[in-house]
Amino acid sequence: MAQLGSRRLFPHLKAASYLNHAGVSPLSTPVVEAVQKSLAALAGEGVGAVPELLSMRFRLRCKLSWMLGCEAEDVALTTGTSWGVLAIAQNFPWRQGDRIACVEGEFPTNVTPWQATGQEVIFLKPDFSDLEMQLKRGIRLLAFSAVSFQTGWLHPWREIAQLAHQYECEVFVDAIQAVGVLPFSVGELDYVAGGAHKWLMGAEGCGYLYVSPRRQAQLHRRWAGWLSHQQAVDFLFEGPGHLRYDRSLREDPQFLEIGSSSALSQAALEASLNLVQFVGVEGIFAHVTRYLDELEAQLSFPGWFSLRQPGRTSGILSLKPPPGTDLAAWEKALRQRGVQISTPDGLIRLAPHWPNSLEEVPLVVEAFQEVQRSFL
Ligand SMILES: Cc1ncc(COP(=O)(O)O)c(C=O)c1O
Repeated sequence: MAQLGSRRLFPHLKAASYLNHAGVSPLSTPVVEAVQKSLAALAGEGVGAVPELLSMRFRLRCKLSWMLGCEAEDVALTTGTSWGVLAIAQNFPWRQGDRIACVEGEFPTNVTPWQATGQEVIFLKPDFSDLEMQLKRGIRLLAFSAVSFQTGWLHPWREIAQLAHQYECEVFVDAIQAVGVLPFSVGELDYVAGGAHKWLMGAEGCGYLYVSPRRQAQLHRRWAGWLSHQQAVDFLFEGPGHLRYDRSLREDPQFLEIGSSSALSQAALEASLNLVQFVGVEGIFAHVTRYLDELEAQLSFPGWFSLRQPGRTSGILSLKPPPGTDLAAWEKALRQRGVQISTPDGLIRLAPHWPNSLEEVPLVVEAFQEVQRSFL
């Protein structure tokens, strides 16, 4: 079974130290097997596989709700974070003149759909220092990420949401860089979206959207499809007389599930959630923190600095290299030495997860030192 610091479930992983879980996580054996099992069921039984796939979707919503600290009926399955952001942006009851606040340095997933609403979008500073001033001027919805993909800063989402609510501003959080690696709970948040392929260690094509019960009724049902109705599938299984077009739309966020979806990515996510929940998020965060503490202490080169800030740490350590550093060359040289990192927006980003062993740290440090020397 899964164990902190053990790669036993990743026998095909090539990099000796895989440090890009903030980008795309490798798939473990149980995840690959779960996908293969669903494929075999569909290959062998066709529609006969569907009842089990429907049960799997039900279990998946339950498991996601444990991760998010909410009720399963307040979670909809999506295709990824972008889908969740767009679903709220397009179904939100906007009024003329509503302003939306995004944050500078955000991943565009949590910006573009808000811009597409046609409402005015303003940008807050990355440290939120101008939040209250802007709230006083009127903000209808604030959209930010729980953890910055770039700096790795943990944003204090509870405190930010409390302040926003004092000014009747609703709060949307992109949680993809948080859920799975550190303790997270939706608490007072109004909307939370994320995807499977990073810290949850599933495959692309599946994600989640939480909508607070107090915000569900106000959403427009502009996005509605055949699965958005109450008793949507009765006409397929219950005999004649059930094919109707006047059934009410669902009151919970599952109205946004709309139509058929990827059972394969959902099966992958269910299996990967089992592992994350088995290992335990608190233990994962402690493990990753120790790994990054050791790396940060040993990766100090002249002109480089770490963006990590005490009290705001996450699963990401980002290093800012001196101006003119050829990051593509660094990425390649490190990869050739068995260390897989990423380079978002001019930074070197290191993002270990539960399978990374602390024993890798000397290897990573040595690879950085060698590359540094080779570029001198
Ligand atoms: C903060 C953040 N949000 C969203 C995404 C991706 O969104 P999607 O899964 O919709 O492509 C990423 C990275 O890919 C990210 O870092």
